[in-house]
Amino acid sequence: MLKGRRIVLGVTGGIAAYKAAELVRLLVKQEAQVRVVMTPNAQEFITPLTLQTLSGNPVAMNPFHLLDQTNIGHIALADWAEMIVILPATANIIGKIAHGLADDLLSTTVMASKAPVLIAPSMNVNMWENEAFQKNLQTLLDRGYHLVEPGEGELACHWYGKGRLADLNEVLERMEDLLSPKDLKGVSILVTAGPTQEPIDPVRFITNHSSGKMGYALAKVARRRGAEVTLITGPTSLPKPRGDIHLISVKTAEEMREAVFSHLKDCSVVIKAAAVSDYRPKEASRSKLKKASSELTLELERTRDILAEIGSEKGERILIGFAAETEDLLANAKKKLEGKQLDLIVANDVTLPGAGFASETNQVKILYPSGEMKDLPLMTKEEVSQSLLDEVVRLLKQKNSQKGT
Ligand code: PMT
Repeated sequence: MLKGRRIVLGVTGGIAAYKAAELVRLLVKQEAQVRVVMTPNAQEFITPLTLQTLSGNPVAMNPFHLLDQTNIGHIALADWAEMIVILPATANIIGKIAHGLADDLLSTTVMASKAPVLIAPSMNVNMWENEAFQKNLQTLLDRGYHLVEPGEGELACHWYGKGRLADLNEVLERMEDLLSPKDLKGVSILVTAGPTQEPIDPVRFITNHSSGKMGYALAKVARRRGAEVTLITGPTSLPKPRGDIHLISVKTAEEMREAVFSHLKDCSVVIKAAAVSDYRPKEASRSKLKKASSELTLELERTRDILAEIGSEKGERILIGFAAETEDLLANAKKKLEGKQLDLIVANDVTLPGAGFASETNQVKILYPSGEMKDLPLMTKEEVSQSLLDEVVRLLKQKNSQKGT
């Protein structure tokens, strides 16, 4: 998502300035283009050489230097930026911007730019609570500047309280948020993720290798694009995705079914990435099964197919399934696409390297009832989610134009 995006990173003079180096590294890793602007005070904390080396671009510091023969530095940067991030943002820079002062390259760049500005403050707790500072910050928020709140804890100055620079992953998430198109605004999407666990006895269960990464990536990207997201997940070790996502945790296929059906009526799109168990022990033992000398046979019964049930009463909904296959990928996926009355199915050959269960990446084919097929390359699960949600946007437009709205 940040690949190729043009980011101006403003670094001001706070002890957290060293964290700007890590942010530059993370942005460059995602192939963003980063131009760093440092205030004179920032140079007391971290050298321009560090940020220049990491960003691969000269660091801009002086408003009176031309970036090239013809461009005036702050105007060139202001026009180039798709987004300005100030990290760390001191009370001083926030005060200057709030009062329209522009006496260094960063404040002039901010004033001259139409790009969204994300501010990541870091300071002593008493400075954070100071009335003048809070008024300045509020002025910026009222004008549409974006804030990534500092955290609480022990501060570099040994005070305890609010003022610690936000976690860089949170900063990245906010940047992705601000740069994402909001083409799913007003759409409520239900996503399922992860495995289910079907108990054999109080300490054992039947499950599969699903980590939840595919479903969580879908939920995250859908939220960034403006959707209202309900994420129903089987047991995973993933942290709750940041932001406003309604997360419901379940264990068994039956619990997932109940959760899905109790939220279905509010959702216009359903994406079932979960690996739901097809079978469960007919009876779970109330106590731990004891080892015996003879063999043990477990009797299994079918679980209900949630996706097929939704398909039979789908109404106006867009319904998307996944098919995890180890053989006959297209034929098996096509059978599920038709049998479950889906708008599309994501055919997932889980034997491919880097694809399927637990990996960070996936390689899938998208199949339509018309027979059309899209063959996606190996991508991160977030990139797969972007492509899949592009299809959702296309299907929603198609449905709306058919309805004549
Ligand atoms: O979680 P990860 O580690 O990131 O791995 C991702 C994934 C491999 C789990 C995911 O990409 C994937 O392929 N999910 C579907 C797995 C699956 O169970 O496929 P299936 O072919 O058995 O089921 C077909 C569809 O019916 C699925 O959408 C499934 O959610 C749904 N189903 C299946 C059984 C059942 N009882 N109820 C269902 O709703």
